[in-house]
Amino acid sequence: MSHAAPQPRRIDAQGPLTGTVAVPGDKSISHRSLMLSALAVGESRIEGLLEGEDVLATAAAMRAMGATIDRGDDGVWRVSGVGVGGLLQPAGALDMGNSGTSTRLLMGLVASHPITATFTGDASLSGRPMGRVIEPLARMGADITASPGGRLPLMLRGLTPAVPIEYTLPVASAQVKSAILLAGLNTPGITRVIEPVATRDHSERMLAGFGANLTVTPSPAGRIIEIHGEAELKPQSITVPGDPSSAAFWLVAASVVPGSDIVVTNVGLNPTRTGLIAALRLMGADIEEVDARTVGGEPVADLRVRHAALTAIDVPAEIAPSMIDEYPVLFVAAAFAAGRTTARGAHELRVKESDRIATMATALAACGVQVEEHEDGLSIDGTGGDAIPGGATIASKLDHRIAMSMTVAGLHAVRPVTIDDIGPVATSYPGFYASLDRLIAGPA
Ligand code: S3P
Repeated sequence: MSHAAPQPRRIDAQGPLTGTVAVPGDKSISHRSLMLSALAVGESRIEGLLEGEDVLATAAAMRAMGATIDRGDDGVWRVSGVGVGGLLQPAGALDMGNSGTSTRLLMGLVASHPITATFTGDASLSGRPMGRVIEPLARMGADITASPGGRLPLMLRGLTPAVPIEYTLPVASAQVKSAILLAGLNTPGITRVIEPVATRDHSERMLAGFGANLTVTPSPAGRIIEIHGEAELKPQSITVPGDPSSAAFWLVAASVVPGSDIVVTNVGLNPTRTGLIAALRLMGADIEEVDARTVGGEPVADLRVRHAALTAIDVPAEIAPSMIDEYPVLFVAAAFAAGRTTARGAHELRVKESDRIATMATALAACGVQVEEHEDGLSIDGTGGDAIPGGATIASKLDHRIAMSMTVAGLHAVRPVTIDDIGPVATSYPGFYASLDRLIAGPA
């Protein structure tokens, strides 16, 4: 799961993009599908699972803790769970690769089981803060020894029975919320998380779907989420909708590459995930929802996207949680808009797979785009639709979304843009470049 040999890729200006592209399964929902299935008693089936490295890290960890997980030739994954409370001591360290979601959610699961687990990861993950989960999980009774700065590698010894807590999230983080709720599954009593700012709610939806006693109550202090342990989960048949965070690259690519007209199928439109679509529409993007439906309890539609003249906006800070992973590609859209786009209030970007404010500022500036870096965001002067100068090699910093975002930028650049290493793209979107080639070739 390491990317020892960098895989550079040169992007030449190309287009228009035409035809249809289906995005792979949602990463957040895929992780949770495996974890909850592994805790149910009996066999669950998962269709449309994202087979990216991050999700495979979760699968390997759940196997190491006793679940049976197999992929059929039909592409359906079957998981036989051990029951809440039934996770086994893993024999070796759990290698989380590049995946913050695997790490933080699994720390929550282990925290209320009588096992000790060591979590390791790649250079990117080993630089990311884990204090945000260590703090609440320690309050529940877990004993955690982390590397300096609250980082990986770390060792976590769970406590059974763990202590239920009430916790108000100090940062808007679905991973922290989910870690606590997952710990609460095997904790007697009521574990309560108060979320002042709503973040993606897949954990709540799926825990309820698996039969956990979970309630969500709106209040002036935010969403109050209560889980009653110890829970019993029933196996489910799950269809994972397509990932809006993967669709994001195509939405921006078709919007900025002249002449483009594409349909992105199977896009999850959970309202806690659609901030990028809202922002692009404010900029004048032409995005049409077709065949709205429900898949796996989540709203889904196909999106027709046509090239459009984009106009700069001040990105409303309140939509940050619903587009947190999409800022890098939004910055690319801004580079082609008329005027100065400013996005503030997005401090969290500093602690993603890379420091996405600094990495994108450097990458866009290297391509000749005027960028001003703020502590919590960027201001970008766009071309008004013309190609950016390009002609740079981009340091993608083990960050899949930087590699894909700057690939999109390179599609409409005067000189080629080279991505230093596209290896990390396989963490979330293994078929990205194959799909790009098909959209460039157009319908057969
Ligand atoms: C995720 C939550 C977000 C997001 C990440 C996936 C999840 O992280 O950036 O890609 O599946 O819960 P934070 O909780 O750190 O905001």
